[in-house]
Amino acid sequence: MNTIFLEALSGKNESGRPPLWLMRQAGRYMHEYRKLREKYSFLGMCGQPELIAEVTELPIKTFGFDAAIIFSDILLIVESFGLKLRFEENEGPILEPALQTADDVKKLHCRDLSSRFSMVVEGVKLLKGRLKVPLLGFAGAPFTVASYMIEGKSSRDLKKTKAWMLKDPESFSLLLDKIADATAEYLNMLIDAGVDGIQLFDSWAHVLAWKQFEEYSLTYLKRVMSKLKPCPVILFCRGASAFYEGLATIHPQAISLDWQCDIQAVRKRVPQSIALQGNLDPDILLGDHRLVTKEAKILLEKMRGSPSFIFNLGHGILPTTPEDNVRALVECVKEFT
Ligand code: CP3
Repeated sequence: MNTIFLEALSGKNESGRPPLWLMRQAGRYMHEYRKLREKYSFLGMCGQPELIAEVTELPIKTFGFDAAIIFSDILLIVESFGLKLRFEENEGPILEPALQTADDVKKLHCRDLSSRFSMVVEGVKLLKGRLKVPLLGFAGAPFTVASYMIEGKSSRDLKKTKAWMLKDPESFSLLLDKIADATAEYLNMLIDAGVDGIQLFDSWAHVLAWKQFEEYSLTYLKRVMSKLKPCPVILFCRGASAFYEGLATIHPQAISLDWQCDIQAVRKRVPQSIALQGNLDPDILLGDHRLVTKEAKILLEKMRGSPSFIFNLGHGILPTTPEDNVRALVECVKEFT
């Protein structure tokens, strides 16, 4: 069993190199994944335990990452609230009906979480018998999930979401409460099934102003965490470069940083008990091998000797990333001494 990832999470990695995994590591940049997608739809794959396990393992077998993340999506949970979810080619997710009024929020009820997500639980159980690396479960943060429920699709600027938040904070907060409670219940199912850690994705927190972040992101990350059974939690937040001190106040096991900050400077300001994950610019992986190795080494040197550093990107790997660049990155990190 390769436990270097868990050691770094608990601040005790003495192996001389950091563990490495990449957000969105099982996805379209992989030839094998695209081959599976010729046969199955994305949601179809998310619904079958055997396929969930197979896709989760793909990047581990192909590249040798030090942690796996269960193949699923942060948006599946909206179906438990009665919204229909589909993915359109070139458009991304469509959620219907999008929320429009305070009354829509009042009427929202989360139903059948355990039956709707039994396939993920089964997938986790299959993987626990097969993987030689730790397995992460994940969910979207309440603010990010709420934004998709309101926008009904991917949006550049979340204008509807922010307008709602500013005009009717009461119903907006009620929505966040409901999502937080469902999220904690879902994550507890994954913890019971045996995941080794949880990552919460607040992918849209960067659209929030300082005070709004505390009120509408942090409060609900905390609410989710307070309801979880014991399990290490990693908080990923686009905007963490600005918000990391706030994130540290709710004591996650790790904070995942975007690439807008100097991780070494952040390390000095976050308590040592909290691990740091990140923060290579995902665009670096679109360059050539020399660039990938050069930039990876700069980050490795910055964090040399840190027992609590997890090598990752500042956000998900891009679908246009060449697989050879991922190979070069893994080799560079694993050979670092
Ligand atoms: O990291 C992993 O490999 C685990 C699987 C994973 C997926 N989505 C699979 C996926 C994870 C952790 C996610 C999280 C997710 N999903 C987030 C948060 C992380 C982030 O990137 O900010 C968000 C915002 C979503 C919502 C989502 N899912 C969108 C907007 C889209 C379409 C656009 C896109 O980026 O692909 C998805 C689809 C999706 N989720 C795919 C995969 C592999 C591609 C589906 C396909 O095969 O076409």
